[in-house]
Amino acid sequence: MEVKVLSAKFDIADAHLLEVAKQHGAYATLEKLFAMPPADVIDEVKNSGLRGRGGAGFPAGLKWSFLPKGLDKPVYLAVNSDESEPATFKDRYILTRDPHLLIEGIIICCWAIGCHDCYIYIRGEYTTQRKALQKAIDEAYDAGYLGEKVAGQDFRLDVTVHRGAGAYVCGEETALLESVEGRKGQPRSKPPFPAVAGLYGCPTIINNVQTIASLPFIIANGADAYKAYGTEKSPGTHLFGISGHVERPGMYELPLGLPLLEVIDKVAGGVWKARKLKAVIPGGSSTPVLTPEEAATTTLDYESMAAHKTMFGSGGIVVLDETVDMVRLVKNLIDFYHHESCGQCTPCREGLGWMLKIVKQLLNGEGTTADIDLLRELCDNIEMKTVCVLSAACTMPVRSYLDKFRPEFEAYAADRAKTEAA
Ligand SMILES: Cc1cc2nc3c(=O)[nH]c(=O)nc-3n(C[C@H](O)[C@H](O)[C@H](O)COP(=O)(O)O)c2cc1C
Ligand code: SF4
Repeated sequence: MEVKVLSAKFDIADAHLLEVAKQHGAYATLEKLFAMPPADVIDEVKNSGLRGRGGAGFPAGLKWSFLPKGLDKPVYLAVNSDESEPATFKDRYILTRDPHLLIEGIIICCWAIGCHDCYIYIRGEYTTQRKALQKAIDEAYDAGYLGEKVAGQDFRLDVTVHRGAGAYVCGEETALLESVEGRKGQPRSKPPFPAVAGLYGCPTIINNVQTIASLPFIIANGADAYKAYGTEKSPGTHLFGISGHVERPGMYELPLGLPLLEVIDKVAGGVWKARKLKAVIPGGSSTPVLTPEEAATTTLDYESMAAHKTMFGSGGIVVLDETVDMVRLVKNLIDFYHHESCGQCTPCREGLGWMLKIVKQLLNGEGTTADIDLLRELCDNIEMKTVCVLSAACTMPVRSYLDKFRPEFEAYAADRAKTEAA
C-alpha cells in the first residue's frame, strides 16, 4: 500500500545533505522549470489537483491564482512549518530527512508566483528540524540554488527561517504573519485574505511544508503522473502519521482514497494487544471522532471524511482501543485548546475555560446530566463566532465525543447522583 513520492529519499542515508540528495535527483526539475512560463507552472499545479496539506485541503494552484495581477508590491511566500496540531508529525520528516525537497518546491512555487522572498515559519520546539533545514538552506546558497541568480537564472530568491515560540495558534496563517512581522501571534480578521494583503500588507501565499514538497514530483513528471495516485477529487499521496493503540505506529506515505480500517490493519499492524477498536481520530485532534462502524466505511480522502461529518485534517490518525476513557480524553483535548487560545475573542477565551471546568467537574464526580447538555450547548454557541477557527477546532471534536459516547459522560454524572443518594 505504501508509495514513495514525497518519501523517496527518506530511507537513504544522509539524504539531507546536498551531495547525497543531488545523487538522487534533487534540483533536477530546475532546468525544466525555468523553461516554463510561470503561468504554465500554475496551470500544471492546478491540473494536478494538489490540495493544501495543512488541514483545509484548499487547491494549491487555485490559491496562487488569487494573487492580484499588476500590483506594484512584492509577493511573499510563507511556508507553514508550525506543525503543532496534536497527533501530527509529517512535516518533521521532510525537514529532517529531505529538506532539499522542500527548498526545490519553494523555488518552483516562487518562480510560479513571482516571489523573491520566502519565509519558513518553523515550530519553536523543532530544534533538530530547524538545524537540518538551515544547514540545507546554507548548502543551497553555496551551490547557487538560492541567492541572486537561482541556478544561474536571472531570478533572485532569498529564504529566511523564522522560529516560532511554542504557540499552536501561530500555525493559523494570519497569526503566523503577525508573528513573522514581530507582533503577538493573534489571528487577523478576514477578509482581506493573505493572497491580497498578507505579510507587510503585500500579497502573500501561505502553504504547508508538505504542499510545497509535493511540487518537484508534479513539475518533473507532470500533473497526470500525480493524478495517477489517489482519487479523482483527492489526487496524489499523503504522509499519514499513525499513532495510538496500533502495533506499528509511524509515518507512512500512501495514495489518498484507501479504506481507513485496511490501512490501520495492514499498514499499522492493527489494534495492539488484540484489543477491540473503540474509535479513530482521522486527521489530528481537531477532527471529529469516528466510531468503528463509521471507520469501516471511511476512506482516506477529503470527500469520504466530509460525508462522515469529519475532516481529513492533517493526516494524523489516532487509533483508540477499548480501554480509552472518552471523558478524560475530552478533558485533555479542551485543556490543550483552552491553553492555546490567543485570548482576543471572548467565546474562545472564556468559553473553552467554562467547558474545561464542566468536564473537570464531571471527572470529580460533581457533575450532572444537565452539565452534559450545557457542554454541548456551549459548543454550539462558541463555534463560528470567533476570529479564527481554533475554537471550532475544539468544539467540533468535543461535540462528536458527546454525541457518540454520551453514556460514558452520563456514567460520570451518575457518580454524583450515587454520592448524593448515599
Ligand atoms: C489554530 C490553527 C492552527 C493551524 N496550524 C497549522 C500548522 O501547524 N501547519 C499548517 O500547515 N497549517 C496550519 N493551519 C492551517 C493554516 O491556517 C493554513 O490553512 C495552511 O497553512 C495553508 O496551507 P495549505 O493550503 O498548503 O494547506 C492551522 C489553522 C488553524 C486555525
Ligand atoms: S478563536 Fe481563539 S485563538 Fe482564534 S482569534 Fe479568537 S481567541 Fe484567538
